[in-house]
Amino acid sequence: MNLCVCLVLGPLLVMHHVAAVRLELNNKNTSSSLPGNLTETASLKCQVFDNTGDEELIWYRGTRQVDVSSQNNVNSSHICVSPLSTEDNGVSFTCLLKRDNTVKISVILDVKYTPILEGESSVTVEVGKSAQLTCIVKANPQAEMTWKKNGVFVTMEKSRYKQYLDSDKFQLNIDKADKKDAGIYTCVAVANDGNATTTEKTFELVVEDKKDVLPVEAIAAAVVVGALVILFGLFARRETFFKPCMKNRHDTSL
Ligand SMILES: *[C@@H]1O[C@H](CO)[C@@H](O)[C@H](O)[C@H]1NC(C)=O
Repeated sequence: MNLCVCLVLGPLLVMHHVAAVRLELNNKNTSSSLPGNLTETASLKCQVFDNTGDEELIWYRGTRQVDVSSQNNVNSSHICVSPLSTEDNGVSFTCLLKRDNTVKISVILDVKYTPILEGESSVTVEVGKSAQLTCIVKANPQAEMTWKKNGVFVTMEKSRYKQYLDSDKFQLNIDKADKKDAGIYTCVAVANDGNATTTEKTFELVVEDKKDVLPVEAIAAAVVVGALVILFGLFARRETFFKPCMKNRHDTSL
């Protein structure tokens, strides 16, 4: 009977002992995300609870340990990320017990910022080839993206223009570029920040004539033109010759 009680309670007591010490980060006992704005300061406070003696804390930024002074690592520890940058967005900070790394708590920084647009701003394409303009967009939260051509929004439906948004790349593909496709294109980002802050970046598309025609192609072209000239000559003669007949056929088909 006693043995039985021990077998049941033993593991529970051990579990209770291990689980006794717990952590809170910014007064939360579960991992969470922490919103902040660019250039502001993120304040992270980790506290030990239900401990019986000194508990030393350590911090990790992602996979790298953060240096914390010995005055700032017993029972509670406070670190600041200042100023918040775009690189801090999505980064996790974890507070752990030094003696038992399984006791830990994390926070993921959610740094809000208006769109930042980049990309190769001048693109040259040969007539007939497909052109691609790539606008690299960074924003949090994600922005609404559109393209303008010479100041007018580009309509994508049933046209040679197609847009794609692939993670941070907002692309405009122009199938079989034409001389009239040349111009100034604008990548427009409207932030989901409540103010619809608009950010733009312009791209220039240059459409060049075909070049580097191989001699063999030039010869082939000359042969075709020559043949057409001869055929046209024969056809013109045929047409006059058969004129009454063709006219007649035209009448009956009506
Ligand atoms: C840490 O907490 C324990 C338990 O409450 C306490 O005995 C100890 O004095 C604290 N240490 C410091 C440096 O505050």
